[in-house]
Formats: sequence, C-alpha cells, structure tokens
Amino acid sequence: MAIITAQEEVARLRRSGQILAGALGETVRAVRPGITTRQLDRIAEAAIRRAGGQPAFKNYQGYPATLCASVNSQVVHGIPDSRRLREGEIIGLDLGVEYQGLYTDQAVTVPVGKIAPPAERLIADTRQALELGLAAVRPGGTTGDIGAAIQGWLEPRGYGIVRQLSGHGLGHAVHEPPAVPNVGRPASGPELTPGLVIAIEPMVTIGDWRVKTQADGWTVVTVDDSLAAHFEHTVRVTDSGYELITADGGRTVLGVDVGEKKIGLAIGNRSTGLAFVRPPLLVTSWSQAWPKLEQLIASENIESVVVGWPLNAQGQPGPQAERIRQFIADLKQRIRVPVVTRDERLTTQAVRREQRGRRLRRGQEDSLAAQLLVESYLEESRR
Ligand code: MF3
Ligand code: CO
Repeated sequence: MAIITAQEEVARLRRSGQILAGALGETVRAVRPGITTRQLDRIAEAAIRRAGGQPAFKNYQGYPATLCASVNSQVVHGIPDSRRLREGEIIGLDLGVEYQGLYTDQAVTVPVGKIAPPAERLIADTRQALELGLAAVRPGGTTGDIGAAIQGWLEPRGYGIVRQLSGHGLGHAVHEPPAVPNVGRPASGPELTPGLVIAIEPMVTIGDWRVKTQADGWTVVTVDDSLAAHFEHTVRVTDSGYELITADGGRTVLGVDVGEKKIGLAIGNRSTGLAFVRPPLLVTSWSQAWPKLEQLIASENIESVVVGWPLNAQGQPGPQAERIRQFIADLKQRIRVPVVTRDERLTTQAVRREQRGRRLRRGQEDSLAAQLLVESYLEESRR
C-alpha cells in the first residue's frame, strides 16, 4: 500500500505520471490503419525513455513489451506483434512508467479510423465510467464507493463489467494493495486515506462479462468474442479529494523565430513552463520547410504557436515585419491551431547578451530565441 505524502516524493510521482501521459498521447496519435502494434510499442518505449522514465511493464512478471495493445475483443494485456491495425477496429493502449522509483499506470481505448456506432458508445461509456469512479474518490471514502459508481453507470446500460481483474494500489511497484474493483457497494472495502495512490481502470464489454487468458499466458479476451474497452488513470488521495497523477503533460506550445536563413524552433510545456530547443529549419526551400513544420505541429500535438514579432527600439514594425506577416498568414492557412505573436525585442536582447558572452555556438541563436520566446509567453499566460 503506497501512501505518498512527502513533498519530494509526490513531485517524483507527478513527474512519473506526466511522462506517462505524454508518452501515451504520442502513442495514441500514431494509431492509424496499417500501423502494427509492435510499431506502437516502439513509439511508446522511445517516448518514455526520451523523457527520462523506464517502461514499468517490460519484464514485469516476464511481460515482454512496454505497451499492452488490446484489439477488439482483447480486453487487456495484448502483446504487441506484427499485426496491422485495420480501419474500424478499436485498440486499448495501456502503459506503465517508473521514474526514480515511482510507478504510474494509464490506459485509453481509441478507434482506428472510422468505427461503428456501438463501438463508439462503448468507448464513450467506459471513459465516463472512469470519470465517475474518479469522482467517487475522497478521503474517508472506500474502494466500494468507486466500484459502486462505476457499476451504477454501466449495468443499467447493459454492459458487462469484467470482474476477474480490477484496479489497484501502486506507487512503489506496478501493483500494490488495495484491490479497486469495478463493482461494489458504497462504504464497503478498504478506506481511502490521504496519500494513498491507486489506479482506477474499468474494463467493459458489450456482451458477457467473463474473460479468459489466451495460450500466450497474457492476452485477456472476452469469452464470447464481444468488443471490450478499458480506461485507466492513476490518482493520489488528498485531504480534500484526489489529485490526477496521470495528467496530460502534452499541453505544448511551439515557439517560432523566423530568421533570414533559418527558423528557430522550441517546444514549451504549459505544466512545467520550460521549453526545449529543436533543430532549426532551413528556409532555403519553403516547399520543404512547410511540410516539416506541419508534421512537427501534428506529431507534438501543439496547442498554439508563438511567433516572434519584430519591433524596433521605437516600438515600430522593423524591416523584417513584412516577411513575418506573410509567414503568419501562410501558417494560418496551413494549420488549425491558434497563432499568436509576441514582441521579440526582449528575446533578441537576451540572445545578444549570450552572443557577447560567447556562450553560443554558431547556429544556436535562432533556437535560443525561440526558447526564450516560448518561456516568456508561458510565464505571462500563467499570471
Ligand atoms: N496495466 C496493467 C494493470 O493495470 C498492468 C499490466 S502488467 C503487464 O493491471 F505485465 F502486463 F505489463
Ligand atoms: Co493498472
């Protein structure tokens, strides 16, 4: 039973959850007809490691992969392989992260392309079951409160609720007590005390609730081959309710500094306020630069773009203004995310200071400008 209250440990737990939510988001965005579940596994593993975490499931009781990828009637623990996803299927993606000894667990079920209405409803109703389970978490409450909330929503709608598996405590390991079943009676079962970390994870079918494990020793499927969905979050019980630990850290902003020959790029995160530089784009050929920029915006799930706006010392548009105005007009034509501009005088000054101090290597100026641009924008929108 993990009770996590020390500030420094809570901070590491949050970081674990943030790495996980980011990696899962990246994996979800890669789902499309034709991709294999093994490719998704590689994407998930790379994303976790890039962010400084470790895949928590890999080698856990002999499990062979980073990701659990469960297609259609597979409920959970599907092992990634060379099978290609097809339009109309649904896939459960379940990931675990370990970061400096702190474990988090999260899952979603998503469509592959366009899917039939009953599958859409199953996904929406399972997600709602998780929301209601989360809403039942409070100090002094019980695991039975959570199960009752989930069961009370799903059963009247005719769904099967998987009972052989349940949610669980975690924090210092992938699985710890207490069990958190998806059925139950209010005020029954172990108490939810402040600091307790649990994963809530309804597993839902449109047919029989019973499941079996396949010969690979892992893949859990419905006995009647009916479709199944699975959503999961890790939360920490607090003095007033709960804190979502697997919070989407993917609220990202792209900073763009349009130079003469290069476009400096940096990607900032709203939850951390920090931005990381990306290699600048060469603007020798716009027909090559645009697709790269569009791909970056899509793959990083960018929510808005900040473009440096050139003003001279008197606050009037500088000589570059016309080029940048054109760039922004073109950008708005090509992408759907909002584009904002920020006065680039401050960031330009900061870059000059760095140049004088010779702390910059050639070619770093553009990206540094973009990094400062995003960080000042994030700071200002935080206030
Ligand atoms: N996410 C699963 C759960 O919540 C754990 C997967 S264990 C593994 O119980 F071994 F399959 F990775
Ligand atoms: Co779990």
